[in-house]
Amino acid sequence: MKEFILNNGVKIPAVGLGVFRVNDANAAYETVKSALSVGYRHIDTAMIYGNEEEVGKAIKDSRVPRQEIFLTTKLWNDDQRSGKVKEALDASLERLGTNYVDLYLVHWPVRGTYVSVWKKMEEIYRAGKVKAIGVSNYHPHHLDDLLQEAEIVPAVNQIECYPYLAQEPLIKYCKEKGIYPEAWGPLGAGQSDILVHPVVTEIAKKYNKSAAQIVLRWNLERGVIVIPKSVHKERQIENLTISNFQLTDTEVKQISSLNKDLRLGSDPDNFNF
Ligand SMILES: NC(=O)c1ccc[n+]([C@@H]2O[C@H](COP(=O)([O-])OP(=O)(O)OC[C@H]3O[C@@H](n4cnc5c(N)ncnc54)[C@H](OP(=O)(O)O)[C@@H]3O)[C@@H](O)[C@H]2O)c1
Repeated sequence: MKEFILNNGVKIPAVGLGVFRVNDANAAYETVKSALSVGYRHIDTAMIYGNEEEVGKAIKDSRVPRQEIFLTTKLWNDDQRSGKVKEALDASLERLGTNYVDLYLVHWPVRGTYVSVWKKMEEIYRAGKVKAIGVSNYHPHHLDDLLQEAEIVPAVNQIECYPYLAQEPLIKYCKEKGIYPEAWGPLGAGQSDILVHPVVTEIAKKYNKSAAQIVLRWNLERGVIVIPKSVHKERQIENLTISNFQLTDTEVKQISSLNKDLRLGSDPDNFNF
């Protein structure tokens, strides 16, 4: 399976499984169990998804050794405001039934706290309970602020990213700083017509692949990690099987040109939960 290497040398599988909106406990458990059984070794959850316990149980019951799985969870905004970063991580670890996570992300840049919170993220990294620390939904201006104070450069910036929101400037910025871009909503979050766009379906036909495989591969070609969510085993397999073909530079550009800066989620500058 294709892996990328983060700025501290930690390896991350290029394709992971996201579990946002898999709220029903049994569904979350079965989804992760199924994903691990078909070969996923990277799971992306968050405290706010409310399914850390089921994710942890599925990992345990899968019998895949914990050290073979790259597990991400995220620090929620309330815990940033309270400054209880270490406590929030400990609570996540408890729910996940593990003594470390591979990647701990600050979920959103909460105004007024995201720089001081980063100092606390650095402390927990040094304490060894997380293999890497990063951020999510950070614009360059948030990262500029953070990097002025930071001793540790975030390993990852997890951002909304699919062809209608190609994020080229932000990806370029992240790469210049040594921060790995990671795409959430890489398939358009079930709310977009991207998977039936003729540019995508024509390329899919050429390679005998699905539209989903093409848009995921497009991000991989640009050096972007992807974490598609599916509760269906067949789709999980489809989304994971994208290492056996390559897009040409022209095709990557064709897909990037579909960009219309169209967000399906919130703009990080206006997100105030
Ligand atoms: N950091 C953040 O703020 C943030 C925000 C949102 C999401 N995320 C993370 O990113 C992950 C992915 O984003 P997302 O879940 O919003 O959206 P997504 O992965 O782009 O899309 C998921 C949707 O696509 C469907 N789907 C999956 N595979 C498919 C395929 N091969 N063909 C057609 N449809 C397919 C899924 O349906 P089925 O499940 O029915 O197959 C679901 O409706 C999340 O699960 C979460 O871990 C992070």
